[in-house]
Amino acid sequence: MTEQRKRDIYNIAREFDILILEDDPYYFLQSTLVPSLLSMDTDGRVIRTDSFSKTLSPGCRLGFTFGPKQIVDKLAHNQHLESGGPSAISQMLIYKVVEAWGYDKYLDHLAKIASFYKQRSDVLVSYMDKYLTGLCEWTRATGGMFQWVTLLGVDKSEPVVDRLMKSGVFVMDGFIFSVERTSRPNIRLSFACVSDDQMAKAVSTLADVLKEIRGIE
Ligand SMILES: Cc1ncc(COP(=O)(O)O)c(C=O)c1O
Repeated sequence: MTEQRKRDIYNIAREFDILILEDDPYYFLQSTLVPSLLSMDTDGRVIRTDSFSKTLSPGCRLGFTFGPKQIVDKLAHNQHLESGGPSAISQMLIYKVVEAWGYDKYLDHLAKIASFYKQRSDVLVSYMDKYLTGLCEWTRATGGMFQWVTLLGVDKSEPVVDRLMKSGVFVMDGFIFSVERTSRPNIRLSFACVSDDQMAKAVSTLADVLKEIRGIE
């Protein structure tokens, strides 16, 4: 989201007195850090959740929350009752890494990961330019691990996603992310942990599937 969009959302939340949960574990994977909703909060209506999963270790399943003390205290209390809290081994591991690195080294690490994913994203988009031009449209991801794609000439993504799966290519179906859970011609590709060759194969398979469905030679 752009800074302006966040400000607009924040103003709507103010107008209707709504709390905002800013679930933002990909924040530090952006090429330019757009201010967070939490940083715009003057009323104490934003609860921000972040995670070490995308930046240090997915297996640790450890995150952190900021927000008004009354709410964060309740969340922490609830978590202790529900799950007993995150694994102590994960907490100790992450704590020791962050303690040893200190703030500056931790931020350097985040910048390195952002640049690593930017490179992965560049490779994916180069294959998309090669194979998908005219078959799909996209706005380049400016960070994170994912590239959204609009499939042209089809009204929903399910048949495409099914055929891709049969060919060994797994993509996320866009409808999962839609509030109304309605079909739409969008899919989400991940460039996080696939090799260049896998990307090329996946993207060319997507091109073949779309051509087959649309009856293009
Ligand atoms: C938007 C979003 N929020 C939260 C999470 C969960 O993070 P964690 O691994 O810390 O449970 C994910 C993980 O995929 C995510 O995509």
